[in-house]
Amino acid sequence: MGRVFVAGSINMDVVATADRHPRVGETVAGRKVLYFPGGKGANQAVAASRLGAKTTLIGRLGKDSFGAELKTFLGAQGIDLGSVREANTHTGTAIITVAAADNTIVVIPGSNALVGADDVADVPLAKGDVAVCQFEIPLPTITAFFRRAREAGVVTVLNPAPAQKMSRELLALVDILVLNETELGFLAGVELTDSDEAAGIIDVARKLQAHADQSICVTLGRRGVLALAGREEVAVPGRAVKAVDTTGAGDCFVGALAAQLADGVPLRAALAFANAAASISVQRMGAGPSMPTAAEVAAVL
Ligand code: RIB
Ligand code: NA
Repeated sequence: MGRVFVAGSINMDVVATADRHPRVGETVAGRKVLYFPGGKGANQAVAASRLGAKTTLIGRLGKDSFGAELKTFLGAQGIDLGSVREANTHTGTAIITVAAADNTIVVIPGSNALVGADDVADVPLAKGDVAVCQFEIPLPTITAFFRRAREAGVVTVLNPAPAQKMSRELLALVDILVLNETELGFLAGVELTDSDEAAGIIDVARKLQAHADQSICVTLGRRGVLALAGREEVAVPGRAVKAVDTTGAGDCFVGALAAQLADGVPLRAALAFANAAASISVQRMGAGPSMPTAAEVAAVL
């Protein structure tokens, strides 16, 4: 079984719950303020680790109380934190509003902006491992990490969220791209909406595909997953659940997928597993703490 190496962001999520989102310029009364471990990188590592993968997180925390709390939480999930270093600034922080299960997020990178190429230079990658990144750390760091992964014969998984333009070089270094419809539309330079048909989504994925072996997996929330795996098309049906908080659902999907791939599970089955895992995470509040265990996923599959 391979290891999962996640190079990415670690945030404290400061969450306000309210009955509805405020409009611009408006104040609404909230119900609660909650502090949850989050950050796309950390969330993905928590999911992979809880789902049974030996998981290493590469990132940076500030020397503050959020940093200390996050370290305690992540350590308790069994994640190897030997590559989580300190930074001379505040810990990454996300200000989140959750209303009617939907969220808005403002993320302040802080320590995450200081994850550099030197942080990924000595990670002990080996064939069979899986390298995972998202877009909350600098892109040159991701490129450096994936170059090393490629040389070591390691599978690379990129979740380009939040979406930003990337180089052709970085896209070409990706084996498995995992993104939602909005991110796919942004990267391919086309408008995609909620109602787009499967054929249309696959056409856009084909347009973005950088090489013949690349897999592009499009997460569609309650509509499941569509993937272009090389030449092959894969569809995983959605699962009807009652969502309370979708924050981190995409991260759950990515972490679960990485854990399955590190375990040698073929892509189609790994996607179905990751979809089931994400459907559990949306039924619980918070990002990091909402990630399921392997037993919980097995119970719904
Ligand atoms: O994907 C969800 C995550 O995005 C949150 O945990 C928040 O920290 C932001 O990074
Ligand atoms: Na959740």
